[in-house]
Amino acid sequence: MKSFLSLICRLTIWSLLQTVKLGPVLVVVEADSGNAGVQPLSKIAIHRALFALHENASVKAYPLVLGQKGEDSQWVIVELECPGPSADDWVAVFSPAYFNSSTCPTDDVRQQSPNICSAPIKYKYANESNDDYSKTGKASLKFQLINQRADFSFALFSGGLSEPKLVAVSNVISFANPKAPLYPRLSQGKSWNEMAVTWTSGYNIIEAVPFVEWGFKGESQTQSPAGTLTFHRNSMCGMIHVLLIDRLSNSLTI
Ligand SMILES: *[C@@H]1O[C@H](CO)[C@@H](O)[C@H](O)[C@H]1NC(C)=O
Ligand SMILES: *[C@@H]1O[C@H](CO)[C@@H](O)[C@H](O)[C@H]1NC(C)=O
Ligand SMILES: *[C@@H]1O[C@H](CO)[C@@H](O)[C@H](O)[C@H]1NC(C)=O
Repeated sequence: MKSFLSLICRLTIWSLLQTVKLGPVLVVVEADSGNAGVQPLSKIAIHRALFALHENASVKAYPLVLGQKGEDSQWVIVELECPGPSADDWVAVFSPAYFNSSTCPTDDVRQQSPNICSAPIKYKYANESNDDYSKTGKASLKFQLINQRADFSFALFSGGLSEPKLVAVSNVISFANPKAPLYPRLSQGKSWNEMAVTWTSGYNIIEAVPFVEWGFKGESQTQSPAGTLTFHRNSMCGMIHVLLIDRLSNSLTI
């Protein structure tokens, strides 16, 4: 693996001169779920959510613009005020930010259509790090958000995870450059001298040409165009760009 690690790839979207550098280390993490296969988000019965908006409840999130120094993740403060707090109130993060019934698919033939058709990407109980929330109705929570090419909003629910009632919705916040090419990863190709470089961005092929600049450090670099694929719903997963670098020198030991 030694000589491979000296290979530096640069992913560039030329129209923006955005550059993502691959770190020198490739880390493979194997998840060991001690939670017997229960995904924490699966406990949320979002399809049962009801509206119970309260005029005096509020959720405020800041900063409004994230990643202004090019960061691809940032901590966000969410401040709650709720006139009728309870210990099982919780705060959900939605992305894209608008999650009202206008986003429900029109071909849903269920008898009772749901009020909310998208699922939170994260949540925390309102009392987390605010022990007296259920008395004061005031709390301040921190969430770490990553740039995933869509804006964010926060919602306060009462009724616990199983009978959620939407009490208040926050302002919308977003990353300064939601489409930035991010999260480069390397994997081995089909043959020994092939390497796949994969990354994600919000740019469709008609907006910018994705390519990889690669070569040995300090030597002349090759620019190779990458392929693009996407998964719908409304392409919110972003564009996934892949380049297979083949005919790598046989002095590379992998
Ligand atoms: C909201 O607060 C105002 C002012 O304190 C109060 O007059 C009103 O009754 C409250 N609304 C509800 C639904 O509690
Ligand atoms: C916070 O709320 C959760 C869910 O209702 C509860 O299990 C936990 O005991 C509460 N923690 C405190 C400090 O009140
Ligand atoms: C639902 O969201 C859309 C934007 O997606 C917005 O135009 C509309 O006003 C919202 N409706 C309600 C009831 O909040």
